[in-house]
Amino acid sequence: MDTSRPISLDEALASFDALWSPRIVTSVNDYDVRIAKVAGEHVWHAHSDTDEFFLVLDGELRIALREPAGERTVTLRKGDVFTVPRGTEHKPFAPSGAAILLLEPTGTSTVGDRHDDVPAHVDATTGHPLA
Ligand code: NI
Repeated sequence: MDTSRPISLDEALASFDALWSPRIVTSVNDYDVRIAKVAGEHVWHAHSDTDEFFLVLDGELRIALREPAGERTVTLRKGDVFTVPRGTEHKPFAPSGAAILLLEPTGTSTVGDRHDDVPAHVDATTGHPLA
């Protein structure tokens, strides 16, 4: 990762096409800043030890949440941010597609440490370097 110069998120997003397969654009202390292109559904999962921060760069992202009071869905439009609390089961989905930025500790798996069966279109990864 070249952190010696600014990184264009537009150029970074243009450098890959894979869906649900985050790229690491930079790091902040022991956190990764990742970007991803998404469309359709991710998978129900939870991160037991960390919150997960979402920023929508383009399009619309929805996140289904299983909370003690029941299930609900939050809708994030371009420019919106949302943090999924640690331990909360969640399933991001984007019926019309979206580009998102995530902030989470380095090494955090995209499918958490508890998850449903991972469908083939979801990349279970801790993030890939930018090409
Ligand atoms: Ni997650």
